[in-house]
Amino acid sequence: MSKILVTGAGGLFGVNFCLNSYQHHQIIGITRRAIKALPFATEQADLLEKGVLPKLVEKLRPDVIIHAAANANLDDCEKDPKHTFTLNAELPARIAEVTSQRGIQLIHISTDAVFHDNTDRVFTEQDTPNPNNLYGQSKLSGEEYVLQIDPYAIVARVNFFGWSISGKKSLAEFFFNHLANNKPCFGFPDVFFCPLYVEDLGEVLIKMIDKQLAGLYHVVGSDTLSKYQFGQQIAQVFGYDINLISPKSVELSTLVSPRSNNLRLSNAKLSTALGQSIPGIGQGLDRFYTQFKHGYPQKIRTYQQS
Ligand SMILES: NC(=O)c1ccc[n+]([C@@H]2O[C@H](COP(=O)([O-])OP(=O)(O)OC[C@H]3O[C@@H](n4cnc5c(N)ncnc54)[C@H](OP(=O)(O)O)[C@@H]3O)[C@@H](O)[C@H]2O)c1
Repeated sequence: MSKILVTGAGGLFGVNFCLNSYQHHQIIGITRRAIKALPFATEQADLLEKGVLPKLVEKLRPDVIIHAAANANLDDCEKDPKHTFTLNAELPARIAEVTSQRGIQLIHISTDAVFHDNTDRVFTEQDTPNPNNLYGQSKLSGEEYVLQIDPYAIVARVNFFGWSISGKKSLAEFFFNHLANNKPCFGFPDVFFCPLYVEDLGEVLIKMIDKQLAGLYHVVGSDTLSKYQFGQQIAQVFGYDINLISPKSVELSTLVSPRSNNLRLSNAKLSTALGQSIPGIGQGLDRFYTQFKHGYPQKIRTYQQS
């Protein structure tokens, strides 16, 4: 059983990964703010505080670090570029220094937002990234540092959805919250992406660790759809009124940060390396709905930040 230290353990990815994995692996979640009643081991730490990271690693001696802590809010990133680069680029570099010195397997979580264009091309790991916002630029710097410093690290460019502690973190929850309350909302018909269900993502990452992969991988779902179509599919799976969702161009949105129209990423390198296909949206939404039926959204919200 490997000892896996997960940063950002109260976030959308981290809490789902830890909840899904703690019975099979020795999980220690790092949370910045205290979170009540989590069933897996946690340590509370601000990873930007000087000396905190090496002390934690010395004390906990993990086999693997999954680094998911970040500022993942694109509009917030634009408001404070210095902090964004410190958190999303310099912190991964510091973690990579520790993992390379100590022989710890690092999985650094990056993003599809390192790409942007208006075409329907599908980006591979060979393509040159060209982020059009501070979030993407800071995450790209983070990946570059990690790949330079720790040649054994995995850099996983992801896009995922699931249930969160706040109930408001993921795009799927945005659509669900509107639909369930019979409220109209908009979806972008001109932004295309390849979302992977967060539990599928966690299971794929574990397989990548087991296979001892290294380097850059696109860890995204096997289906491409627009954000508007994603909302429509959620309405269908949950049996809500599909007409509550209207198409509205991203160009007309009030979002602060520029967005990419094209986040189509190929996962062919990954599926070849694992010798299996990566789940698509149908399986992901089925699992998202099954969790809902089993009361998971209510359960996860009991782990409130104190
Ligand atoms: N959500 C997506 O679809 C998506 C898409 C592409 C890539 N990603 C990447 O996936 C990763 C996880 O994203 P997410 O959606 O799970 O983000 P999230 O919900 O915002 O979680 C990020 C976590 O990082 C923690 N954190 C921030 N600053 C910290 C610090 N100084 N020390 C310790 N922890 C700190 C936050 O803790 P507090 O809450 O206490 O501040 C938060 O729980 C990120 O690297 C993100 O860039 C996400």
